[in-house]
Amino acid sequence: MPLVTTQEMLLDAQKRGYAVGAFNIENMEMAQAIVAAAEAQRAPVMIQTTPGTLKYAPPEVYQAMVAALAEKASVPVAMHLDHGDSFDLAQRCLKAGYTSVMIDGSRLDYEGNIALTRQVTDIAGEIPVEAELGKVGGKEDTLQDEGCLYTDPDEAAEFAARTGVTSLAVAIGTAHGVYKEKPRLDVERLKAIRAKVEIPLVLHGASGLSHEQVQECVAAGICKVNFATELRIAYTEGVKEGFESSPIDPKAYGKVGRAKVQALAEKWMAVCGASGKA
Ligand code: 13P
Ligand code: ZN
Repeated sequence: MPLVTTQEMLLDAQKRGYAVGAFNIENMEMAQAIVAAAEAQRAPVMIQTTPGTLKYAPPEVYQAMVAALAEKASVPVAMHLDHGDSFDLAQRCLKAGYTSVMIDGSRLDYEGNIALTRQVTDIAGEIPVEAELGKVGGKEDTLQDEGCLYTDPDEAAEFAARTGVTSLAVAIGTAHGVYKEKPRLDVERLKAIRAKVEIPLVLHGASGLSHEQVQECVAAGICKVNFATELRIAYTEGVKEGFESSPIDPKAYGKVGRAKVQALAEKWMAVCGASGKA
């Protein structure tokens, strides 16, 4: 089926108490793996690219590739800009046919974040827009932040109302990249945000969390969970493994990487409760 927007997908997740898995891709093999995982699990799915990935190849290329995979799939697939860092990039992805965008103004002060987010919601039309309030820690793409700045529930409610976003990424103690120690998540804060904010909430930095941590967050109101680092590691490990027996056939080692990404994505879809929801 054609690419779908994330609006219905996330509202269904909110209504039925599960979370849509949102998976970062870098190349065709990873995109194929995620769509195959969604088909196998009968799960709705989001595929996303960061600004860094979009420097490797432009949005038009990733969109065309994922749209072609979605067309052949029997489960809903959405194409999302992850951590969009400028109005121009968000606009470019919208023009390229992305069906969802994130504008991440979390490095700005509160009013600056609202102003940038508002610029994007003003041009997005029917396309859903995710924003971030507070600051998820760690390293994602070229973003490097030491600590996590927790989202304030009252600010979140005001932010959602003033920007018109359709989903909101919250900072409750997760970080991008590999955790050096087990993170402690502020689930009470998440519940407080959920009590004040009606739009679907998004959890970033899920690589390295336990199944129980993800499930606890989903039960407390998270409707979308982002996975990147674990997928990159799985793909790379698969390629290294495949490379040993087939060092000159990109198809042969790409296949091993692809299979590892699919298995991992299937596991997380099940943990998020998305299996069987398509
Ligand atoms: P991880 O790299 O920690 O999985 O985070 C993913 C993410 O939040 C992408 O936006
Ligand atoms: Zn993120």
